Amino acid sequence: MKKKRLTVFASGSGSNFKALHQAVLENEIPASITALISDNPKAKAIEYAKYCGISTYILSPKDFSEEAAWCKSLEAVLADGIPDLIVLAGFLKKIPEPILSQYPKKIINIHPSLLPKYGGKGWYGKHVHRAVIQNRDSESGCTVHWVNNIYDGGPVIAQKRVPVYPDDTPESLAERVLREEHRLYPKVVKELLLK
Ligand code: GRF
Repeated sequence: MKKKRLTVFASGSGSNFKALHQAVLENEIPASITALISDNPKAKAIEYAKYCGISTYILSPKDFSEEAAWCKSLEAVLADGIPDLIVLAGFLKKIPEPILSQYPKKIINIHPSLLPKYGGKGWYGKHVHRAVIQNRDSESGCTVHWVNNIYDGGPVIAQKRVPVYPDDTPESLAERVLREEHRLYPKVVKELLLK
């Protein structure tokens, strides 16, 4: 079987990217990672990608005169990689519309809440976990979903729940959720590639 190809987008620490890459190295995910795209030159994900010899592209909208030009440069990298799946792993920019329409059912994201709760513009990282604790929710978790033109609004593919404890802080809850993200994301990517 021809090896499948993944292109990953990440803006931050890249722990999900690392978990995916580890799963690739362990042949858990039957694919190769063709490229890492980031909008943030300081992203730890870039360091890791370079260390692993994965092609790295720093493409931030603020370095382009208009969004269309940024989009064209993303399109070129994607066209080069011919990805079977585009995996957003903590990518903080919205994927431009032309890319959404060129890659239908091929772009996924992971979010640190049980969507549709705590999803949408402005809901990320500590903001999510702080609200979960303030609202005294008894459970939280993570969601893998298809990406469409609504922030965190695409159809849900899979979720994993975790308990919220009375003495949780946003940090302790984030850690518990992130640990599950690292298990869930590779599992879902594998299942989608084998479909
Ligand atoms: C994760 O919590 C993910 O759910 C969200 O952004 C965070 C990225 O973390 N979309 P990392 O960069 O993978 O460590």
